[in-house]
Amino acid sequence: MVELSEREEELPDLEIGKLLQIAVERPEIISLGPGEPDFPAAKEIVTHTKKIADKVNHYSPPGGRKELKEAISKKLLKENKVEAHPSQIVVTCGSQEALLLATACTLDVSEHIILPNPSFMGFLPTFELFNAGPRFVELKEETGYAINPDDVKKAINKKKTKVLLINSPANPTGNVLTKKILEELADIAIENDLYIFSDEAYEKIIYDDAKHISIGSLNGMSEYTATFHSFSKTAAMCGYRVGYVAAPPKLADAIKDTHIYTTVCAPTISQMLALKSLKMGDKYVNKMIKEYDRRRRMLVPRLNEMGLSTPMPKGAFYAFSNISSFEKNSKRFVLKMIKKAKVAAVPGIDFGSAGEGHVRFSYATDYKLIEKALDRLEPFIKKYK
Ligand SMILES: Cc1ncc(COP(=O)(O)O)c(C=O)c1O
Repeated sequence: MVELSEREEELPDLEIGKLLQIAVERPEIISLGPGEPDFPAAKEIVTHTKKIADKVNHYSPPGGRKELKEAISKKLLKENKVEAHPSQIVVTCGSQEALLLATACTLDVSEHIILPNPSFMGFLPTFELFNAGPRFVELKEETGYAINPDDVKKAINKKKTKVLLINSPANPTGNVLTKKILEELADIAIENDLYIFSDEAYEKIIYDDAKHISIGSLNGMSEYTATFHSFSKTAAMCGYRVGYVAAPPKLADAIKDTHIYTTVCAPTISQMLALKSLKMGDKYVNKMIKEYDRRRRMLVPRLNEMGLSTPMPKGAFYAFSNISSFEKNSKRFVLKMIKKAKVAAVPGIDFGSAGEGHVRFSYATDYKLIEKALDRLEPFIKKYK
């Protein structure tokens, strides 16, 4: 039989897919695994889908539809203080495709990209697919899992490092980076001539006094920053597959050109719905945030009471718990949790080596189900052997 590529064979064998499959097949299991809103898309989006269904059978330009890029450009300026001409915006099939394209356009084989560990499981394999050289900066619980600029400096190889990836609000930790840290990272990027890939998929899902700041808005950073946004989380439109990147002109043009060889363009129907979503403003996302916040304030104290050390997340919809006083192996912990407590979540190892000894609990699940899951977890943890 013909062999598959080494590239494919070396992709990580993530637990999340298998675990979510178990949760689907066994309805008695409560899953705190999902990485997507449990809310439907807003009613207006669904109605609009039907209205435009007969007008969407054509490709769009690879960068995206003109009116959508114009609306995004205005949104970036108003909400993110990021200046990007519509020609610097590329609309993609989710922000994941934008990251893939930006990687293809910046990193040659074995050139380095620095990324946080733990971080979203979609990052590392994307860089490995291009045979880039990922370098990790370990995040620490004591700092609420904020990236430490001094550690970034130490990870830089003057000859090889080209990109620093940051993600705020963060998956899986819920960390939101402060202006001070972002400014220090900006200085590092300028001093070392690095691109910053700033993944802001959860930009609006923030709590308490946290503030989302786009690093691309800081002085001088527009030349260095590719900002990735998505309609998946903030508009509950994961399945529509639409996101975008705003990048300096040279990089944006390269991404646009490369897009022709991946998917040509984001689905036209999804682009039109993304425009509709931008026009709708923040009412729907604010409604979701209010409910996530209510769940967060119930879930996180209860996890801590059980002895699972869990910093209060400032953003996104995940609680990242340290389970290491019970079990070092997160996969073993989750498998036992599924078997004995009938609760599923994602083992921290899926987010990188520094995620080991942790579990990600998503609160993009109904409040009452989270309560029920916690009622099951309490006796499970007490008796954990
Ligand atoms: C941090 C982060 N970035 C990007 C994505 C991918 O989002 P999209 O649906 O826009 O491809 C996810 C999805 O879970 C994520 O958590």
